[in-house]
Amino acid sequence: MKLLEKVTIGNKTLNNAIAMAPMTRSRADAEGVVSDLTLLYYTQRASAGLIITEAVNISAQALGSPLTPGLYTKEQINAWKKVTKSVHDDGGAIYAQLWHTGRVGHSVDRNGKLPVAPSAVGIKGQQHFTSQGMKDYETPQELTIADIKQIVKDYGQAARNALEAGFDGVELHAAFGYLPNQFLSESANHRTDEYGGSIENRNRFVLQVMQELVNVCGNDKVGIKLSPTVYYNNIENSDPVAQFKPLIEALNDLPLAYIHLMNGVLPLNNHPHYPENAVETFGSISKHLVIANAGFDKDSGEAELKKGIAQIISYGSLFIANPDLPKRFELDAAFNTLDHSTMYGGGEKGYTDYPFLKA
Ligand SMILES: Cc1cc2nc3c(=O)[nH]c(=O)nc-3n(C[C@H](O)[C@H](O)[C@H](O)COP(=O)(O)O)c2cc1C
Repeated sequence: MKLLEKVTIGNKTLNNAIAMAPMTRSRADAEGVVSDLTLLYYTQRASAGLIITEAVNISAQALGSPLTPGLYTKEQINAWKKVTKSVHDDGGAIYAQLWHTGRVGHSVDRNGKLPVAPSAVGIKGQQHFTSQGMKDYETPQELTIADIKQIVKDYGQAARNALEAGFDGVELHAAFGYLPNQFLSESANHRTDEYGGSIENRNRFVLQVMQELVNVCGNDKVGIKLSPTVYYNNIENSDPVAQFKPLIEALNDLPLAYIHLMNGVLPLNNHPHYPENAVETFGSISKHLVIANAGFDKDSGEAELKKGIAQIISYGSLFIANPDLPKRFELDAAFNTLDHSTMYGGGEKGYTDYPFLKA
């Protein structure tokens, strides 16, 4: 089974071709420090060839949701050190997913400060989960050029902190409507300076951040997650192929570890111009190792690997409920049932208490 075969990223060999997809679980403390429960949660899942952590805030400014962890204070870095050591002791590999939420946040959880974004365009028709319940989105503060340059540096510092914390590499969260994805989108980015107004300008921020991450981490230690056909969080493009093809071609020139492509997860009836299969459309033009995501099970993951575009499949919800997912694939064992009510926030229930297969 290809899923259970070793895969190499640079000089790092992964035990299998199964990645744990990044998943926010909102169990850090109010200072963004992960606890020993999080240490246990990731250690339980160390049999994944690669763990990509939940999205981790790169700065206080980046934060959008309560109880999400960070990588910008000593305490945060020290807490992650325990996680990476434990995963490595168990033979696993672990990347930190770097997060700036941009306009997908709310001032009630940002010390009263408005979220920031490429343009002062708020999200409509959705609400945001906050520590004070669901709230309408606010109109974000438009970033200045100086702000943008600072954020690029903040990503670099967070990557430096990630290496200090013992991570094998970092993944830029450029998917699902967060800040990098906002820059890539015509609906969220109305800028007329060098960061907007054309395909090349909308791609600039992501490419500058990726260059910064490579400068800090070196070759084969930086990945990126993209969701070119996900329009959640009011992310729209008149022609996603025209936007993302040059981006992926430009990423081909950087010494990356991988690109992580999330297939569309929403119906495309109202988006007939969006490609049906993002992994095929965009993965086939990447020269990097491709991680395919969204909706895979064992058989469809195996079939995807056989197509020859992706070398790794990432699994999200299956990994929440099945800490020993690779073993279950190997033995064709049944899966535990996912409890949706404990996905975000809370303690060990629905986090570290999903049973392993009996020996
Ligand atoms: C509880 C939960 C939290 C998530 N948080 C993140 C996140 O922090 N970063 C990210 O890139 N994707 C996040 N995702 C999306 C997953 O990484 C993945 O793309 C999605 O679950 C589809 O994969 P699956 O069908 O295997 O679950 C989250 C998904 C879930 C279920």
